[in-house]
Amino acid sequence: MKTILIKCGGSVIDDLSTAFFNSLKDLESEGYHLLFVHGGGPDINDLLELYQVPQEYINGLRKTSAETMEIVEMVLAGKTNRTLTAKLSSHGFNAFGINGSDGGFLQADFIDQERLGFVGDIVKVKTEIISMLLNEKYTPVITPIATASNGEKLNINADFAAAAIANNLQVDHCIFVTDVQGIIINGELVSQLSKEEIESYIHADQITGGMIPKVRSAVNVIEKGLQNVRIVSGKETFFNQGHWIGTEIFAKEGILR
Ligand SMILES: Nc1ncnc2c1ncn2[C@@H]1O[C@H](COP(=O)(O)OP(=O)(O)OP(=O)(O)O)[C@@H](O)[C@H]1O
Ligand SMILES: [Mg+2]
Repeated sequence: MKTILIKCGGSVIDDLSTAFFNSLKDLESEGYHLLFVHGGGPDINDLLELYQVPQEYINGLRKTSAETMEIVEMVLAGKTNRTLTAKLSSHGFNAFGINGSDGGFLQADFIDQERLGFVGDIVKVKTEIISMLLNEKYTPVITPIATASNGEKLNINADFAAAAIANNLQVDHCIFVTDVQGIIINGELVSQLSKEEIESYIHADQITGGMIPKVRSAVNVIEKGLQNVRIVSGKETFFNQGHWIGTEIFAKEGILR
């Protein structure tokens, strides 16, 4: 089965265009099965603000107190997942929302409980849950919350969750959909970048904020063997008759899966 994992940024869920859904249709018509992981940054920020919960980011990761975690779950599982699943359904996809924390689907360890609170790194993915849905022609839409070994729920950066799922499932393509066309350097979209170039742009502060966990996740996926990973816009066409638009992050020759 040919599969494509699509991480859909919370930054763009409300702005997904008809052209974007047409690109998805194009991929399906080429025989790919789609699965989604979503983020929810802006909605989470709005609700934290409403409840006057202080916000703090450390290296692009959201510091997550017990109170923040409750709001993160409420937003991701109760709102963002519902919105994306409904949008996909209304465009004819057989979308099926799932929480990463259910049935031990996504399992994680605390990254650094003292510094980051309830933030995790995925250590296990029960891929059979996804396979089951894909085999039955569903389009899974995954909420990036995992369970720790002590049973507590952990907030997983959606880009990291996407990478972990892509690696464990050994997908054929991995795409990060966001609110910009791809990686922009000095005002220009860069169509191809190697891992080495990415690191130097991070050091030069030309790749910043939410783009850092995204490119690091992309690199993680190509290091595990995928030939390339793409960062594309959800506002425009990103795939048309075999042609991709956005930034391609590629592996060096010789590490093809
Ligand atoms: N070099 C760069 N090129 C393009 N965007 C960049 C760059 N450096 C930083 N960014 C920022 O990264 C943002 C995308 O990451 P962000 O985390 O905000 O969105 P997302 O991951 O799509 O959504 P979510 O985090 O809610 O899942 C862009 O909107 C842009 O502001
Ligand atoms: Mg992000």
